[in-house]
Amino acid sequence: MAPIIAPQMAFRAFRAAPQPAPWARLTSQLPRAQPAFRRFFATPAQEQPRLRLGSTAPNFKALTTTGQIDFHEFIGNSWTILFSHPADFTPVCTTELGAFAKLKNEFEKRGVKMIGLSANDLGSHEEWIKDINEVSSTSVEFPIIADADRKVAFLYDMIDQQDLDNIDQKGIAFTIRSVFIIDPNKKIRLTMMYPASTGRNSAEVLRVIDSLQTGDKKGVTTPIDWQVGQDVIVPPSVSTSDAKKKFGEVREVKPYLRYTKI
Ligand code: BEZ
Repeated sequence: MAPIIAPQMAFRAFRAAPQPAPWARLTSQLPRAQPAFRRFFATPAQEQPRLRLGSTAPNFKALTTTGQIDFHEFIGNSWTILFSHPADFTPVCTTELGAFAKLKNEFEKRGVKMIGLSANDLGSHEEWIKDINEVSSTSVEFPIIADADRKVAFLYDMIDQQDLDNIDQKGIAFTIRSVFIIDPNKKIRLTMMYPASTGRNSAEVLRVIDSLQTGDKKGVTTPIDWQVGQDVIVPPSVSTSDAKKKFGEVREVKPYLRYTKI
């Protein structure tokens, strides 16, 4: 099946820096978006969803490759990772989905449900999954949301500002690579946003889940590049004497930088 990708999107994906699009003059010749597609552009900033860390992940209903879902029901009492892709049958996305599928056991070990999103319909997703499974010798089992109309992409602000000005022929902006890590209380705990040109790092997604879950369980924070098993940081809100009672040995590098083991 041929890739469903508009020519200006391919240019956009490999743009080196966020400068005015060199093809802007070309795209200005394309039919412009109708007002119905521009509903979010016209919504005053203060009325748009605020996806702050700690805010409740917006709920939605959607068709996925494993059936219709209500997102909050899907989350249930689990941690969840929602990750988006610009389009089916594109090279970087294909490698990403394959990598996440191979990490099924790692996510399960941490009690994390996975759900992908790509801005195409179900028929396209089903064909694309066959390619992903073949290329990465894996089996994609988590659902992939069919977000052809970018409804969820807009709800979660998975849109590049420049793409708002370089919309496709249907008048819809392209979806970027976002990651939302959502906790069992349905709060957004971590977000990542990558441009279409740059594949994500699946090990980093697991690492930040480890950090969040460790922090929640033990009341500690984690330093730069931390990995499970390494020393953690006593947060400023905990006195050294309380930390010693709770954790045992505390190594004080500065009064505000104290390491311990868990
Ligand atoms: C990709 O390689 O995944 C990709 C390329 C161009 C646009 C969007 C995605």
